[in-house]
Amino acid sequence: MDGAEQARQYADGDFSATDQAVIDRIAFLFPAGLGERVVDLGCGPGNISFRLASRHPTSVVLGLDGAQAMLAIAEAKLRSEPAWPNLSFQLARLPCPDLPGACFSTVVSNSLLHHLHDPMVLWKSVRQLGATGAAVYVKDLRRPDSEAAVQALLAAHLAGAPPLLERDYLHSLRAAFTQEEVQEQLEQAGLSGLEVRALEDRYLEIAGRLV
Ligand SMILES: C[S@@+](CC[C@H](N)C(=O)[O-])C[C@H]1O[C@@H](n2cnc3c(N)ncnc32)[C@H](O)[C@@H]1O
Repeated sequence: MDGAEQARQYADGDFSATDQAVIDRIAFLFPAGLGERVVDLGCGPGNISFRLASRHPTSVVLGLDGAQAMLAIAEAKLRSEPAWPNLSFQLARLPCPDLPGACFSTVVSNSLLHHLHDPMVLWKSVRQLGATGAAVYVKDLRRPDSEAAVQALLAAHLAGAPPLLERDYLHSLRAAFTQEEVQEQLEQAGLSGLEVRALEDRYLEIAGRLV
């Protein structure tokens, strides 16, 4: 998703319902709030970061992404609407050992995991960036167990979408992990405070606190 055209198509997509569901779910799981510093890993054009900053005005939100084209869209929105004193973006491709360690009270990531060649990059980054006790919320697609199930999800959720988005979605479903695979990843990363759950017909959510 590094190209400008791909970033523009992604940013133009209407993910408002699923994005808002992430924000509502985080608020439900962590009713006491997100603490002082929130990081959104693989923030893309900032869909989740903007909503987090708005919902949690006393938290400072940092969106990190490895693609300049995505961040350019996020930064343009940040500049055009001068009401985001608690939000900023930073170019960072994970793994990124230069990022400050253990300083975030909440680590969020939506739709990044299946983009990583090595999924442990995400879990090691969560561990690197989150303070002890940090809230963690990660959501991603769940890999269907057959090609027929992949096609059924495509028909159910992406009918009529632009071809590039449709192609990306197919690729994403096939690249996503199963609940069992993510459970193994969490064990390997020593993230015993996090739990993975299947959500709806196509998602996984991983939530909990760093211990
Ligand atoms: C599907 S988009 C999700 C964007 C955003 N989280 C959202 O919910 O709209 C995936 C994003 O992950 C970013 N990404 C992929 N690999 C990355 C890496 N190793 N480090 C940082 N960002 C990465 C891509 O540039 C892209 O913006």
